[in-house]
Parts: sequence; structure tokens; C-alpha cells
Amino acid sequence: MIRFDDQRTIWVMETKTAAYAIGLCESGTINHIYFGEKLPYLSDYPNASIEAKYPYTLGSELSAEEFMGWSKAKFTEPCLKATFADHVRDVVLEYCSWSMTADTLTIVLKDQHYPLSVLVTYKLYEEFDIIERSATIVNESEQCVALEAVLSGSTYVPKHQNYRLGYLTGKWVGETQFDQMMLTTTKVVLESRRGTTSHFANPFYTLDPNGQATEKSGEVYFGALAFSGNWKITLEKDRLGLVKISAGVNDFDFSWDLKPHSNFTTPSFYIGYSNAGFGEASRNLHRLQRQHLLPAPARGELRKVLYNSWDATYFDFDEDLQAKLAVEAASIGVELFVIDDGWFGKRMNDKAGLGDWYVNPEKFPRGLNGLIEKVNALGMDFGLWVEPEMVNPDSDLYRAHPNWVYHFPTRLRTEIRNQLILNLAREDVREYIVGFMDELLSKHPIKFIKWDMNRNFSEPGNPEAPISEQREVWVRHALGVYEIVTKLKERHPKVLFQSCSGGGGRVDLGIIQYFDQVWTSDNTDAYDRLRIQEGFSFAYCAKIMEAWVSDEVHPLNQRKLSLKYRFHSAMMGNLGIGDNLLKWSDTEKEEARELVELYKNIRPIVQHGDQYRLLSPRNNELSATMYVNRSKDEAVVFIFLRSNSFASTLPKLRLDGLEDHALYLIEGEQQPISGKALKQVGIKLNLIGDFDSTVIRINRVG
Ligand code: GLA
Repeated sequence: MIRFDDQRTIWVMETKTAAYAIGLCESGTINHIYFGEKLPYLSDYPNASIEAKYPYTLGSELSAEEFMGWSKAKFTEPCLKATFADHVRDVVLEYCSWSMTADTLTIVLKDQHYPLSVLVTYKLYEEFDIIERSATIVNESEQCVALEAVLSGSTYVPKHQNYRLGYLTGKWVGETQFDQMMLTTTKVVLESRRGTTSHFANPFYTLDPNGQATEKSGEVYFGALAFSGNWKITLEKDRLGLVKISAGVNDFDFSWDLKPHSNFTTPSFYIGYSNAGFGEASRNLHRLQRQHLLPAPARGELRKVLYNSWDATYFDFDEDLQAKLAVEAASIGVELFVIDDGWFGKRMNDKAGLGDWYVNPEKFPRGLNGLIEKVNALGMDFGLWVEPEMVNPDSDLYRAHPNWVYHFPTRLRTEIRNQLILNLAREDVREYIVGFMDELLSKHPIKFIKWDMNRNFSEPGNPEAPISEQREVWVRHALGVYEIVTKLKERHPKVLFQSCSGGGGRVDLGIIQYFDQVWTSDNTDAYDRLRIQEGFSFAYCAKIMEAWVSDEVHPLNQRKLSLKYRFHSAMMGNLGIGDNLLKWSDTEKEEARELVELYKNIRPIVQHGDQYRLLSPRNNELSATMYVNRSKDEAVVFIFLRSNSFASTLPKLRLDGLEDHALYLIEGEQQPISGKALKQVGIKLNLIGDFDSTVIRINRVG
């Protein structure tokens, strides 16, 4: 609910348990007033005011502007920095008007002198205690305005407190690791300058006062940016008590030529508050994704068990080999059979072929449909890998259109994995991608696209565009991907899209509004995955998290894990299998069949239920994650033991998320037990040795 106090000109946005208040200051700016637990009365929320001045510090510096133009003596991170046609580089934004609908508040700010306005928007997701921030810059003049920094908004957490910052870092084969540190009096920048979201940092943060929050208790403020290009989140803490968080498009090497009578809308910045710890913060983000953000057609559908042949065959396959793998996959219960890299052009390795999206006639003399028919006859859907944004210099496409890649005419074109990036700022390039993808999807009954993106940007030149538009590529590329997938989904609404970028290099709240699921990491080692998947779960829901069962001895680190352990780890998200099934024994296939069957039974709880991180794999020999369905009558717990030593008895595992007074039966036990007892007393564990695991199902019986 949005409440307006016209006496004081303050707006209070109330969600289920939280409130976010802003107000008009005597300076004419819209300032932050309050963020935290909802208060009983409108009069409880303070006034908007500028604080006292100190020598060397103006009141404006101490004030908490929600959308600050770079002007006057303002030294913190601005949301808008621009140069007008007359070279004035000072954006003086003042409150003009406001409007609201049931769930959205829009504040209009106007520049004091120039016909430039900003619509600052807050959309409430009341049930999840989340607010979506964005801004639209409107140029109402007859001249261009050069935007040099445009963020989605600034937000604040209560002053004069210490905060612990939580964030996701990573690398290739080691994505989404959750790290924490105390936010000292400094400025911290989380960002990507790589052209896409990146493996190295993910646009998400948490802040908990004094580092006191746990999974189950305490206040947690969090934010996540919905953008898949260069992004930036800054956290500023000064000695005057202010803690300011700003997020949006990265201003590094950025500018946007805002033409007369045109707009620029920022990506959405989702901010939230939990007074029940990190667990509830994550669950609210997960619910938001499952109920609002994921692409609508398949949002409510369960994701299928897939097989992907990449780890099994790499580039070395033909129709015959794929057909043999398909028979095995179907026999263990796989529902979606995906062919990875290598089916097209002259793609025998990663040196050639990207860009030539015709079926390789040596590998598939009858085209792809011969194999697809076999896959469909086995009762499975068919999926295909593509990497549409890329080209190998050794390709017909590049030979025909060497200017279609980002480059600077006088510089070398740096190759990574022997490939260059197509310039999606160009309309003809976007049309070409829509064209070949549309043809591929029209000529073949394909139900799933694995869309890969295997390198970061270099030499981001767009030589045929005007100089004033050169630095727009960072945004135009990401918007180009969104536009292409939107067009393809309009034409092929039943096709699911997976976002992959050398593993989890492009996972964010922006991409998942276009893509139905993501590839979490090229690291499929089931033990390493526990850490990657735990970090992933801080920001993203299990339904979109693809996880594969792969080699018994993993090539990355030679760790040997049982089939059961590998399945259990992969069953915590969207189960897939990536191993060479032709090498599996009959006993392994039988065991796999049972485990796939188990997954299909628990899949609604895992994919659509609420997730509870019971024990973190970060610091524990024992780790556990639990999923509970929405009606709290079914649950499933995944438990993993690293090692047990000194003949120690494992502690009981205390569960969460169940109804206190309901009675539950633990799989394999005779005596029902209350939800409260499961929380307070816990369940006995029978794990032993190294790398043991178990999955326990729990059903409500009274
Ligand atoms: C990337 C992906 C892998 C696989 C290869 C194919 O590394 O993350 O899953 O698709 O490309 O080249």
C-alpha cells in the first residue's frame, strides 16, 4: 500500500512487513526517510529534512537523495550525470509532481532550467517485501543531451550503524560464492566491465546491521539489479553516518546520446528487507522470480529432466552416436535431449564454424530432423545449443561481414576462444540473428535452446555509428539480446531458452525475464557444486538452476564421487545428466532410473517450494538444504557429509519451514513428530565415511 501524507509531503510504501518512506525536502529534492519494519501510524514516519551543515560539508551532502543529479556541491554517487547542448554539465533536479496506481508510485523530477525530466518509479511487490526501482530520463528539448551516468536509483539503510556486506563473487568453474565483510567507512564498488553480467561478481548484495543476522533471524537489507550488460553497485559509508547504495548501468566507458524528445529507461533495481534473516530474504527473491519475473508462458511449468551430450562427446559426434545416447537417456527417464556445441558449420573444434548455422552434413547427412524424430519417438523433447552473438574469424559469416564485429579500425581484434563478438548495436546484425534462429526453430521441432556466450568484450568499437553513440554499445548489446529473444518467443512461444555464458557468466534478474533457466557453472563436480549452488540460492531460485550429474572421477579435480552423491547434489535444482551414458553399467543405469524417478516425485517441492539453507557447505563437514511445499505438507531434505572422523556421532539435524503443530512422518520412521519438534530436536542422521549423502522425504500426517 502506498500512503501519502499531504501535510508533510511524504510517501510511505508499505509491504507485508516493511516500509520505505521518502519525502520532499526544503531543498526541493526527494529524500530518503525510512527503510525497515512497518510502523503502526503514518505519523510515526519522520519528516524529510536536510541535516545540519558542518564546515566543508553542505546539507545536501548529508541528505539522502533518492535520485541525485550531479550538480551543486554533491559529492556522493550521482544517479544522473549529463552534459547539455550548451556544454553545461550540471543537472539540478527538483520535485515537480507525483502519481500512483495501486502498486506503483511515480515521482517526477525536473531540471531547474532545461526541459529534462526524470520519472522515478517504485513498484511494490507487497507480499515479498520487495520494491522495484527504476527511472526514465525524458529529454523534452530540441537538442541532444549526453548522458554520462544513469543509475536506476539510490537507496539507504538506517544511519549510524555498522553493516556487514554480503556479495557474490566467482570465476569460471567457481561462480556465485557468497562472501561477507564489514563495510568500513569507505566506498565499495561491485561491478562488471566485461560486457555481460560476469562470473567474477554478480549484481546482488545484502547488508545486515552489525553482522548479526543469521539464516533465521535478524534484519537483512538486500538488492539485485536486473541488467546483463556492464553494471555497477556502489556502497558508500561516510563518517557522518550515511550509508548509500546506488545501482545501475556502469558509467565506465558509457555515454548515451539522448535525442530530442526521446527517453532512456534504466534497468530495474530490486530492493528488499527481511526481519527474519537471510533465509527469508532469499525466499522472497525466489518467490518474486517464480511468480513475476520468469517469462510468462512457462513460468508455472515444472522444468524437465534433461540430458546434454557436451561432457560425453565434446565436438566429436554424429547422428548415430547421438541416437545411441538418446536411447540410453530415455531408458533412465530423461525428458529433454539436448545436443550441445558442434552440430553446425565446420565446427570440429572451437577454432571454426561459429556464425555458420547450417547443419553439418557430415555429422547429420539427413539434417537434424532425422535425429529429432528418433528423440521424439523415444518420448523426449529435443533441444539445441547455439551461440548467436559470436563468430569465428574462420567462418563464412565473418568472411562475408568482417565489419559485423565490435572493433576499432586501427587495432587488433582480440580473440578469446578463437572468437569475436557480433555487434548487436547494429540492427542488421540483430535481424540476421532473429532470421537464422527463426528458420532453425521453424524447420525443426525444437523445444529448448541453450544460448551460450563464451567470451568477454574487447575493443568495443562500433565504427559505422556516429561518435556520440560509440559508448552506447554496453547497453545496446544487452538490450539487443533481450529484443532478439523477445521476438523469437513471440514467434515460438513453446520454446524454452537457457542462458549460458561459459557456465554462470550471465545470471541476473534481467536475463531471467527473457530466459527460462540458466546454466549455473561448467563445474559439475557434485561437491564443488554444493558451494556454487548455495551462493546461487542467496539470489536465485532453484527452479532456474540447472545442475548435471557428470563423471564419476571429475576431470576438474579428479575427485571420485558415487552416482548417488552426484544425483543428490544435482537434484537440488533443475536436474540434468551430462555424463557419457554409453559407459554406464546396467547397475548404474538401474540406480539412475530410480533416482530420476525420485526426482520427478520431489520436483514440485524443489522447483516450486520454499528453500531453507539448514547447514552451509562453507564451514561445515555436514551440509543440508531443505525444500518445503507452499502448503507445508510435504518437504524434502538433502544432506551431504564431507568426512566423518574420530568415530564421532553426527549431531541431529534441526529442520525448518514446517507447521509447528502439524504432525509429520519422516521417511523410514514409524512415529509421527510435530513440526516444532523437528525444528527444536531435529532428525537423526545415518551418514558415514567420506562424501556420503541422503535425501529424506517428510509428509504431513495430521
Ligand atoms: C561453454 C558452456 C558449456 C558448453 C561449451 C560448448 O563452455 O558453458 O556447457 O556448452 O561452451 O562449447
